[in-house]
Amino acid sequence: MAEYPLTSALMARGAEFLGSKYAILCGAMSWVSERNLVAAISNAGGFGVIACGAMTPELLDTEITGTKALTSKPFGVNLITMHPDLFDLIGVCEKHGISHVVLAGGIPPKGSVEAIKVFGAKVLVFAPTLALASRLLRSGADALVIEGMEAGGHIGPVSTSVLAQEFLPSLAGDFIVFVAGGIGRGDMIAAYLEMGASGVQLGTRFACASESIAHPAFKAAFFRANARDAIASVQVDPRLPVIPVRALKNKGTEEFTAKQREVAQLLDAGTVDMGQAQLQIEHFWAGALRRAVIGGDVESGSLMAGQSVGMVSKEEPVAEIIAQLMAESEAALARR
Ligand SMILES: Cc1cc2nc3c(=O)[nH]c(=O)nc-3n(C[C@H](O)[C@H](O)[C@H](O)COP(=O)(O)O)c2cc1C
Repeated sequence: MAEYPLTSALMARGAEFLGSKYAILCGAMSWVSERNLVAAISNAGGFGVIACGAMTPELLDTEITGTKALTSKPFGVNLITMHPDLFDLIGVCEKHGISHVVLAGGIPPKGSVEAIKVFGAKVLVFAPTLALASRLLRSGADALVIEGMEAGGHIGPVSTSVLAQEFLPSLAGDFIVFVAGGIGRGDMIAAYLEMGASGVQLGTRFACASESIAHPAFKAAFFRANARDAIASVQVDPRLPVIPVRALKNKGTEEFTAKQREVAQLLDAGTVDMGQAQLQIEHFWAGALRRAVIGGDVESGSLMAGQSVGMVSKEEPVAEIIAQLMAESEAALARR
């Protein structure tokens, strides 16, 4: 008998889709989700996803090769839709026979879903509204991730609990839907599975796993933090739409406000157009996150974290985190 029969039964469709033991994805986290964490997640029965972020096709090639050396289990690659070399990156995934590609950061551009499906990979997408989600799923995407504003990193405006109530009753019968954002315990996993989700995606809970290469100072900041410390960035200029980012409050949070003013002034002066302005903002985040994750600069770097950070209190191996989540889910379902 399966070790966690009640949870495994509810996860069966998601696990089959992913090719993993448990339908628990570790959401791609730029700089954090590299070969070590990704392989550890997949080896422990979850599903790891490489964060391509701003990597060049060559770097992605190297990272995939490195990950394959550490695991024989399936893993995915997360590509940001606004990456200028998106189609070359898809080509790298094809070369490696990657089984699952996650398209994040916006609506998949024309032809991208098709370019992935042509080599047999499954495509996972995000969608901000139910109408758009239905359209993407009916036009070729294989699965949907709904991600609420409790999550770490770039976020939308709606909470996971509300998205789950809006999306799952309509979509979960016909499609594979994973729920992300604010999940810190197995009890919550059980609840979303019971609502029809095929599985879940967590980021914050895995960012400080023993196998994560994040700097010890980055991890220490997570262990100290409470839910209320993970705050969403605010937009300072109404003309400059900034996708909010949830991160631990520090000096970097204030520097981001200053950066927005600086970019708004460049817009005023006509030195940059709106596209360039938004790109500058995104480059700011990528650089700041690298400084914190790799360099350990927890003062002015970006400590992207979700509200579940309050439930991260120590460094643990991925296998233990997954076992704990599964056991909590199982106990919750058994109590029903
Ligand atoms: C440090 C950090 C970096 C992230 N970077 C990315 C990214 O590059 N691409 C992406 O699609 N999501 C990114 N995310 C979101 C995660 O993939 C995941 O969906 C999210 O963390 C789930 O919510 P949770 O943090 O509440 O568990 C990031 C999250 C964190 C905490």
